[in-house]
Amino acid sequence: TKTYRIAVIGGDGTGPEVVAEGCKVLNAAAAKFGFKLEMTDFDFGGERYLRTGEVLPDTAVDELRGFDSIYLGAIGHPGVKPGILEKGILLRLRFELDQYINLRPVRLFPGVETPLKNKGPEQIDYAVIRENSGDIYTGMGGVSMQGTPHEVAMQTMVYNRFQVERCLRFAFEYARKFGKKARGKGDANTLGLVGKTNVLTYVFGLWERVFHEIGERDYPDVQREYYHVDATCMWMVKSPEWFDVLVTSNMFGDIITDLGAETQGGMGIAAGGNINPEGVSMFEPIGGSAPKYTGMNIINPLAAICAGAMMLETLGETAAADAIESAVRDVTATKIKSLSAGKMGYGTKEVGDLVAERV
Ligand code: IPM
Ligand code: MN
Repeated sequence: TKTYRIAVIGGDGTGPEVVAEGCKVLNAAAAKFGFKLEMTDFDFGGERYLRTGEVLPDTAVDELRGFDSIYLGAIGHPGVKPGILEKGILLRLRFELDQYINLRPVRLFPGVETPLKNKGPEQIDYAVIRENSGDIYTGMGGVSMQGTPHEVAMQTMVYNRFQVERCLRFAFEYARKFGKKARGKGDANTLGLVGKTNVLTYVFGLWERVFHEIGERDYPDVQREYYHVDATCMWMVKSPEWFDVLVTSNMFGDIITDLGAETQGGMGIAAGGNINPEGVSMFEPIGGSAPKYTGMNIINPLAAICAGAMMLETLGETAAADAIESAVRDVTATKIKSLSAGKMGYGTKEVGDLVAERV
């Protein structure tokens, strides 16, 4: 039997609880579909940092390179100054493992309430591909004259053609494979570039040129659209059904995917994949560590479970991934009252059981 080696980083707050339910469901899927998952736990996170003063051991990144995939709960601890763990663990792994794609589907599952008026699962069903290696996130910049009235702070948006092109190629391929036409839900596969070409002319000028250049030459079957990021936010609320696959820069992607998550019922169900198509990828619920709910068995594990399904999909276990997704759909449609912590009508572990039983 095929065995996949999975590094499990539960992380902070409710991270370990939701990941435990994810592992339960993943193991159920493995048993059913005839493969094995060998899970290895890592204790990276705030507790370890407070205990040892070490964010990530030097050997961690190389060790993680030896796994087939990484399954992450959440990073962020109320006792640690913001930025230390986020930059030292999450962003460091994304960058050093060159997980240059952050794939974040925005899908409303049946039975889930959305704050959008008159919209249902048919209308809220698209994917955001967030570039995950560049932009303001690279930390270029600095401060000077700190503490004086003339203090200057700079944080620079940086992209090179290589980064832009590899991200766009992934997005075109993704649109070709998973766009609305490919899924029998429309008559075209459409890739929408989200940018700000009217102001950020250098950076998004580059994105737009490469988009049309490679799109016309190599992906003529994929329909191309361009949207400004501010207008995108408006349409994500007003007319999400216009969207199919969106691709955007790191910072814009960070922002619009929180909006997207909220329209799909909130952080309880939003999953993301940090993908290096040639290397080791990392899958996570995008909601954060929710420290105030830690250890209460009330946090929603569905986002972590959906992240697990994405992991299996990326590993090539498509049938198992589909089975988990159908199980989640059935649970949201028939069982769970609300996706919010403490209002599900079931505990964290019970929701894990409900999904695992259905796989
Ligand atoms: C996310 C998070 C991270 C980001 C933070 C925690 C560094 O908001 O995964 O979207 O900004 O990318
Ligand atoms: Mn974010």
